[in-house]
Amino acid sequence: YTYAFQNGLYLENFVSGYMSEKRFKHTCSVAKLAREFAVANGIDGKKAYIAGMLHDIAKEMDKKQEAIDILKEYDQEHIIRLLEKLDSKKQEELIEQIQKIDFHQMLELYNNTKRKIEFKESKIEPLKYLDKAKLTEQQHEKFDKLGAKVVENGQYAVVTMAGGQGTRLGHPGPKGTFKLDVYGKGKYLFEILVDNLKEAKQKYGVTIPWYIMTSKENHDETVDFLEKNNYFGYDKKYVTIFTQSELPLIDEQGKLLIGKDLKIKEASDGNGGTYSSLRASGCLADMKKRGIKWVFIGSVDNALLKMVDVTLLGMAIDQNVQIASKSVVKANPHEKVGVFCKMNGHPKVIEYTELPEKMAEEVDENGELKYGESHIMCNLYTIDAIEKISKEILMYHSAHKKNSYIDENGKEVVPTEPNSYKFESFIFDAFEFFDDIAILRGKREDDFAPVKNKEGVDSPKTAKELYEKFWNC
Ligand code: UTP
Repeated sequence: YTYAFQNGLYLENFVSGYMSEKRFKHTCSVAKLAREFAVANGIDGKKAYIAGMLHDIAKEMDKKQEAIDILKEYDQEHIIRLLEKLDSKKQEELIEQIQKIDFHQMLELYNNTKRKIEFKESKIEPLKYLDKAKLTEQQHEKFDKLGAKVVENGQYAVVTMAGGQGTRLGHPGPKGTFKLDVYGKGKYLFEILVDNLKEAKQKYGVTIPWYIMTSKENHDETVDFLEKNNYFGYDKKYVTIFTQSELPLIDEQGKLLIGKDLKIKEASDGNGGTYSSLRASGCLADMKKRGIKWVFIGSVDNALLKMVDVTLLGMAIDQNVQIASKSVVKANPHEKVGVFCKMNGHPKVIEYTELPEKMAEEVDENGELKYGESHIMCNLYTIDAIEKISKEILMYHSAHKKNSYIDENGKEVVPTEPNSYKFESFIFDAFEFFDDIAILRGKREDDFAPVKNKEGVDSPKTAKELYEKFWNC
């Protein structure tokens, strides 16, 4: 063997037995290149060739050991214990998953949960906006005309972010399948969104393409639900459902959670994943093919969301900006919503979890909250803006949430209090890639009826009241 090795005999046969065909092809080209470089530089070509052939030899020798080593390095011994208990098929699946996880990133994200975010106040300024209720008749007319033209020309698309977990609501199923108790017989949140699109079709004579983003967790259920309900009468040819990216969930001690399928439990990585998922899923390319110029992105859980607001669209066109958003005034300084501001000269939304108390309460000379324009997930983008953002990397925030998991005895634990961190990028973190944003202040009673919590504020009860009041039922 030693002789054969030193002389490179039978080397290809030997190496190919230790790796996949794909890696073997790569290995052969590396070895040939190494020989070329060596010869060109007056070094022993045979030795370089052997080194090239052997450079990946251990990569696939023992994937299990490699997985165990990573888990040990990152203090995830409970997963090693799980791995040892699994049959070979399940082991393989778990190992494959472990190989895909960036453990270093997970450790950093976990460590960040212990850090406090601080903003230098001097760099934060309030952001200018227009109040829809105070627009002049001419302004209204001008904006509406500009906006309507885009919709009528078939250049407008709508994206619904439906990849969230809806943990606070506790509805057993995707949030869009939640039935709001309105009209006596009730309406599903997806149905309410479809109403928007149907109304636009009537007004502008156009079927607007609708893209729905799901998570891996809720995708099948979402598709089944919409199929079963015949897309609530909307033309299925105009509906595209795509899934978003995911990240593992981690407990308060930094241990990865285990799911019912005996794999590491993962969840969608926040609504900021919308942009890159639009690109990765091919939806962005599809929009371009359809000639879309403006894209609306909104949440699934606002019963008063206006997905086709031509005033907002026209205002964005008039102000010659790439992004626009509708806001409503914060109900009180501590309402759990993000607020608009300008940070270091760029538009930004600060999440309620990250806004220092002092700033949350600050008022201007008119006694109005200085940072009172809340972000209600009602955003507009040019197609170029989506393209630009989809290539950027957004930061992750941590959300402390209730997530069930499988414990070391194989039992499912369903927590009653938040027990783990979900890492999410936020849709609005992309605003800072732009110099400006057009903000249109809407009205809470017209535009914002969120279904977030099981009861109390922003619950089905408050959303029902707001919805019925708006539609005068
Ligand atoms: P929220 O941030 O309110 O989260 O979502 P959620 O997951 O629905 O609810 P909780 O916090 O677990 O109770 C706001 C919007 O962003 C979408 C949601 O579906 C909703 O439309 N979203 C959120 C995603 O599409 N993907 C995500 O990863 C997170």
